[in-house]
Amino acid sequence: MSALKKVDPTSALYEFEDIQLTEKMFTKFAKHMYELAGVDLPFSPKNHALIRNRIVKLLRRHSLKSYEQYWDMVEHGNKEVTSEFISALTTNMTSFYRESNHFEFLAQQLPDLYKKFGTDIRMWCAAASTGQEPYTIAITAHEAMQQVTGMKVRLLATDIDLQVLKKATSGVYEEREMQGLPPATRMKYFEKMKKNEVEYWRAKDSIHDMIRFAPFNLMSPKYEFQHKFHVIFCRNVLIYFDEETTKKVVDSLTSCLAPGGYLVLGHSESGNIKHTHLKPLSRAVYQKL
Ligand SMILES: C[S@@+](CC[C@H](N)C(=O)[O-])C[C@H]1O[C@@H](n2cnc3c(N)ncnc32)[C@H](O)[C@@H]1O
Repeated sequence: MSALKKVDPTSALYEFEDIQLTEKMFTKFAKHMYELAGVDLPFSPKNHALIRNRIVKLLRRHSLKSYEQYWDMVEHGNKEVTSEFISALTTNMTSFYRESNHFEFLAQQLPDLYKKFGTDIRMWCAAASTGQEPYTIAITAHEAMQQVTGMKVRLLATDIDLQVLKKATSGVYEEREMQGLPPATRMKYFEKMKKNEVEYWRAKDSIHDMIRFAPFNLMSPKYEFQHKFHVIFCRNVLIYFDEETTKKVVDSLTSCLAPGGYLVLGHSESGNIKHTHLKPLSRAVYQKL
């Protein structure tokens, strides 16, 4: 059994320097993640380092001494263990106004969507991570609502990772997480708060109340929603899926769109998207025919 070397007794940090993640154990974790979340992690030095670095934190948290012990825990895991495993292996990088041309596009289209559908505009942000993306959508919609009398917008924001979803729901960000927000927008839609001498920014009700946050796994066999959406953002998550999963997810998302509505993917994800009911419009933006 490998020894744990305690490097800093006060911070309870441990170096798991001798513990090896074998290819066999790597494959078990990768397969499990694929089955749970569709995230494809073929064996490579980069993915080996990713799984090792993420799971070693869970060994620490649960005072386990080997990856095998953690696998025993995960294999027969309850909801909390499974959720923690998924959270550890998802990549949640995001920022306000990421791939900003999509928000310019949305601002232009919202008045027309309202005219065309004559109803509340329904949008879905399907891999919302810590919330910067749905709050950017809400800000864009709020600005448009000030120009168009009567227009209302509702936004559903979902993610498989319950930990990031909790943060998104709180709408509270540290200074470093506010990058991308122009100063005037920040002042208009966020308020400063202090906790334990640290300053945070909290989304104001004007945008917070436009969003409903809920867990949703894009691997779900059924996408059951009461109404069709007019715009779906599903950005920078298909890159973690293989071709077959991507196709299934794009089919399901398309089936949730109203004809004439828009599907917005990440900039690097649009290469292989072909769907008889999707017309490519601009960079990674499609319209349902
Ligand atoms: C890199 S982030 C992208 C965040 C945001 N859409 C953006 O573009 O900035 C990818 C997100 O997809 C989520 N995700 C991964 N697999 C998922 C699945 N099967 N169902 C729903 N969300 C998933 C992750 O938890 C993560 O928060």
